[in-house]
Amino acid sequence: MEANSIPTELSEILKKARRVVAITGAGISAESGVPTFRGKDGLWKSFRAEDLATPWAFERDPALVWKWYDWRRGLIAKARPNAGHLALAEMEKRYPEFTLITQNVDGLHRKAGSHKVIEIHGNLWRVRCTAEEKIFYLEDVPLPEIPPHCSCGALVRPDVVWFGESLNPMLIQESQRALATCDLLFVVGTSGIVQPVASFPAIAKQSGAYIVEINPEPTPISAIASISLKGKSGEILPELLKTQSIQ
Ligand code: OAD
Repeated sequence: MEANSIPTELSEILKKARRVVAITGAGISAESGVPTFRGKDGLWKSFRAEDLATPWAFERDPALVWKWYDWRRGLIAKARPNAGHLALAEMEKRYPEFTLITQNVDGLHRKAGSHKVIEIHGNLWRVRCTAEEKIFYLEDVPLPEIPPHCSCGALVRPDVVWFGESLNPMLIQESQRALATCDLLFVVGTSGIVQPVASFPAIAKQSGAYIVEINPEPTPISAIASISLKGKSGEILPELLKTQSIQ
């Protein structure tokens, strides 16, 4: 999609919007070389989430879980933000209110320069002690010790949300507040099937926001989107930015 092929209605909306939210999923990082979960080469095609991304898996075999997370940290350490991440960081500067809600744990939005980021599924570089809830950052790849331990002797775990766990209620509230008052919502690179984020677009819809979905494939969100732009976010988002000199 090129800037001159963006429908007039959408370019007007992009110019007039004031309170903007973007929800992102694994697809935004695909062009940075980070695997998605459910695509053709998605992680859940080769790995079982039950063995690697649940509290029970960690209890049963923390070393196996950590090896998998360490492997993913290695992939992500090599990844750089792509044009889609950079366009969203630029939008944060241009719009008076801009909130980015990401399901990704790769930290690439912050690397791209986004500041107001709600990492609703956590962050792969952050770990927490299983005994004291103490949070710290592990930058080393590979980890010197697997599974890693806290100075208190307890195991540490990735500070990410696993299947069967609740999301941080404060982050949910903060997201809901932004969604309930936004006039424009971007839904980028998510299959739209993992709750509670899958229900977030409906909150914005209810309050009358214009919803732009960006994804090469249709998703359950497409049904409520005002417009579905089919393609890669690293190509479409920079084009949207070009039309978007705010009035
Ligand atoms: P998925 O892997 O389920 O979906 C990725 C989406 O990105 C798909 O709809 C693709 O069509 C789309 N996509 C692929 N390449 C793209 C590109 N270049 N530009 C735009 N879109 C592209 O990932 P998520 O929806 O993020 O949770 O998955 C949600 C959650 O499920 C993840 O956060 C993770 C996972 O299990 C936990 O681990 C808790």
